[in-house]
Amino acid sequence: MSILPSPVHMMGRLFDGMETYRKSRSGAPPSSTQVFTGRLFDVDPEMGFFPSQPYRRLPGEFELWEHELENARSVLKLGEDRGSDAFSKCAKGEEWRQRLRSWPLLDVRNLGNGIRVLRRAHYVLTCLLHFYVHSLPPYQAKDRVVIPKPLSIPLVQVSQTIDLPPVLTFADITEENFYLLSAAAELKGVEMLRVFEKILNMPYCTDRVGIATLTREFEKLVRIIDELAAILKNASKTVDPNIFYWMARPWWNGSDAAAPWVFEGVPSDTPFDLGGASAGQSSVMHALDAFLDIDHALNQARQPAPSAENRETAAAGFMEKMRRYMPVEHRAYLVQLQKRNIRDTMARHSELKGPYNAAVEALKAFRSAHIRTGTLFVISQANSSRPECMGTPDFSAQAKADRSRGTGGNPVATLLKGGRDATARAILN
Ligand code: HEM
Repeated sequence: MSILPSPVHMMGRLFDGMETYRKSRSGAPPSSTQVFTGRLFDVDPEMGFFPSQPYRRLPGEFELWEHELENARSVLKLGEDRGSDAFSKCAKGEEWRQRLRSWPLLDVRNLGNGIRVLRRAHYVLTCLLHFYVHSLPPYQAKDRVVIPKPLSIPLVQVSQTIDLPPVLTFADITEENFYLLSAAAELKGVEMLRVFEKILNMPYCTDRVGIATLTREFEKLVRIIDELAAILKNASKTVDPNIFYWMARPWWNGSDAAAPWVFEGVPSDTPFDLGGASAGQSSVMHALDAFLDIDHALNQARQPAPSAENRETAAAGFMEKMRRYMPVEHRAYLVQLQKRNIRDTMARHSELKGPYNAAVEALKAFRSAHIRTGTLFVISQANSSRPECMGTPDFSAQAKADRSRGTGGNPVATLLKGGRDATARAILN
C-alpha cells in the first residue's frame, strides 16, 4: 500500500551513495578494510545519531497535524488519570479526539519524498497516535483500541516508506529533546563514534605505534563509558522516579495484548512492531555493543555459561528487536561496525587484551548502574503510591506485575541482568 519510495529503494540509494563515495576516494572498489565513516549512514560528525539540524514543521495542509499536536499537550491527560485536573479537561480531551476522527484523509504523496520531511511526519503522527490512544478513558480502550482512519492511513504509509514501525520510537523522542537524559547520553556518544572511526581507519594495528594508539583510544573509550554511566547515576537528580513512572512513561507504551491497537483502513494481516519507545533503541548503545562484540543473542560459546534466565532473555531477542525501531541508515551502520570485529584483533595480541577488557568492564559497570536505575524508577515504583493528583490507582497483584515489565513485556530486572551478563562474557582471558 506504500505509495512513496519503498525502504528497498532507500537502501538502494544508500548503497549507491556509498559506492560513489568509495570510488571518489580510491578510484577502485575497496576491500572491507577500507575507510569506515558514519557519514555514509546519516551519522553526523558533530551530532552523531541525532539529526544534524532540527526538522522543520510540516508545510501546507499538514499544518493541521502540527496544530493538533500543540493542542494535545494542553488538553489531554492519561486515560487512567482520575485527578481533578484530568476531570476538568475531560470534555476538551473528548473534543480533541472527536476532531481527529473527523479530519480529512490527507494524501501523504503531497509531502514529497524528502527523508527529513518524512521523519518529521513520522514524529508528528506517532505523537498524535500516543496522545490519542493513551488519553482514551479506560472504558473506550477495553478489548481493543481502534486508531481512526485519518490518522492510521497516513501514519502507516509514512512508516512503511521510511521503514519504521508506526509507533513512537526513541529516535522520534530524542529529536525533540523530550527525553533529556537520553539526549545527553546520545550526544556523549558522538565522542565514542569518533574513537571507533579512528580505530577502524588505522592502517596497521599491530606494530609498536599501532598498539600504543589502540591502547590510548581504548582508554579514551573507557572514560566516555564512565561518563555515560555518570549521566545515568545522576538521573534521580533531574527526574523524579514517581512522576516518571506514573505520569511520563505510560505515554510511550506501545500496543498491549489485552487491548491491541487496530489501524482502521489497513489490512488486518499487516504485521507491525508496536513495542513503544525505549532507550533500548538508542543507536549509541547498540554501536558500543557492536564495536565490542557483545553477544546478546548468546550465539558464541563464551564463559561463564549463561544461566537459564539469561537464555530465556536471549531467546526473547529484545536487543535484536530494538534495532527494528531505528532509522534504516543507522541499522546499516551497526551492521558494518559489527563486521569489523575489533574483538578478534584485540584477542590476538596479549598487550591489547587489557585495554579491550577495561572497556568491557566499564560497559558492565554501566549496565550494573542501569539495573539500579531500573529498580529505582520502575520496579520500586510499581509498588509505590502514584502522585496524589492522579487519584486512586489499580493495585491488583496482576496490575503490579504488568507495571514492572519493560517494553516488549520482559520483566525489567531479568532483561537488564541478561544484558549485564552478556557484556561480562565478552571479557578476553
Ligand atoms: C531514568 C533513566 C532510565 C530508566 C528508568 C531506564 C529504564 C530502562 C528499562 C526499564 C529498560 C528495559 C526495557 C524497557 O522497558 O524499555 C531499559 C533498557 C535500556 N536502556 Fe534504560 N533507562 C534509563 C536511562 C537510560 C539511558 C540514559 C540510557 C543510555 C542511552 C539507557 C539505555 C538503555 C539500553 C541500551 C537498554 C536496553 C537493555 C540493555 O542494554 O541493557 N537507559 N532502560
